[in-house]
Amino acid sequence: NPGMPQALRDACRYVLSSGGKRLRAILVMLSSEAAGGTARQALPAAAAVEIMHNFTLVHDDIMDHAMARRGAPTVHVKWDLNTALLTGDTLLAIAYRELLNSGYEDARLLVRLFTRGVHDVCEGQALDLAFEQRNDVTVVEYFEMISRKTGRLITTSTELGARIGGGSPAVVSALRRFGASLGRAFQLQDDLLDVVGNERQFGKTIGGDIVEGKRTYLLLTALERSRGVSRRLLEQVMRRKDHAARQLSARQRQALVTTVRAVYEELGVLAATRKEIAMQTARAERALDQLPASQARAMLHWLSLSLVHRAS
Ligand code: IPE
Ligand code: IPE
Ligand code: MG
Ligand code: MG
Ligand code: MG
Repeated sequence: NPGMPQALRDACRYVLSSGGKRLRAILVMLSSEAAGGTARQALPAAAAVEIMHNFTLVHDDIMDHAMARRGAPTVHVKWDLNTALLTGDTLLAIAYRELLNSGYEDARLLVRLFTRGVHDVCEGQALDLAFEQRNDVTVVEYFEMISRKTGRLITTSTELGARIGGGSPAVVSALRRFGASLGRAFQLQDDLLDVVGNERQFGKTIGGDIVEGKRTYLLLTALERSRGVSRRLLEQVMRRKDHAARQLSARQRQALVTTVRAVYEELGVLAATRKEIAMQTARAERALDQLPASQARAMLHWLSLSLVHRAS
């Protein structure tokens, strides 16, 4: 829009040109191909999903008090809270515009799928925040939460692609199941990288989840296994969800992360998380095997395996 206020325009550009893996866009296009269509015909939907994803990140960073993303300051830090809210809102609107301007014959169906996806992500994010206040979150609840906050946009990507590519109900279902397992593996890996990642490669502040008291797979698994001193330390981490926790200096935060990482290591939590990632990835692979063989299917295989070793 020519009349767009400067700060809003700059912030939207800042987010959309800051890179990212473009995983969801790639999934839409490869799913279309794997379903018998082309990547090109899925391009508008791919752009819409990717822009939608960027909207969720801008608001997520506000909720998580995150200072960095993709190796750069987050929008609410670089500008301010209100600009970040409006940037997210604007990206949401742009995402719908991309989808509606695409000229898809079954636009109504695609918009419905897309809308359900966004709606579920909001619920997942609400659960993520609600869990911060609870000390009795189970691993089952955790999986329900990540299936919505992260899994849903990934299954939305694969399902949109499958539908655009003209896939049969069996193909749509296989790609949806592929996305669901891949989404779980992806969020588990993200939880892991928050603890063991390299800040420069990951582009986000290491230990952000620990400082925020997020009920990650690592924390929940550690709680199940810990007694005594390590148990008390983890309980302290769970109570960190207060403003004081975020006032930690970089050095104090590093010390906290180092301590928690050592506890996770000792309890075998890092290994358990890696094992769960491998299991979810194997499930994703099995869903792919239900599809007819194609180059796109091979690329989806490669993609899901390569995500297990990602550093960013
Ligand atoms: C980050 O998603 C949010 C999660 C669901 C973990 P990505 O890791 O795909 O973020 P970008 O787009 O590549 O930066
Ligand atoms: C990502 O969860 C969920 C969404 C953005 C919808 P996180 O809060 O773990 O994502 P990062 O680590 O900030 O990218
Ligand atoms: Mg976050
Ligand atoms: Mg979050
Ligand atoms: Mg994270």
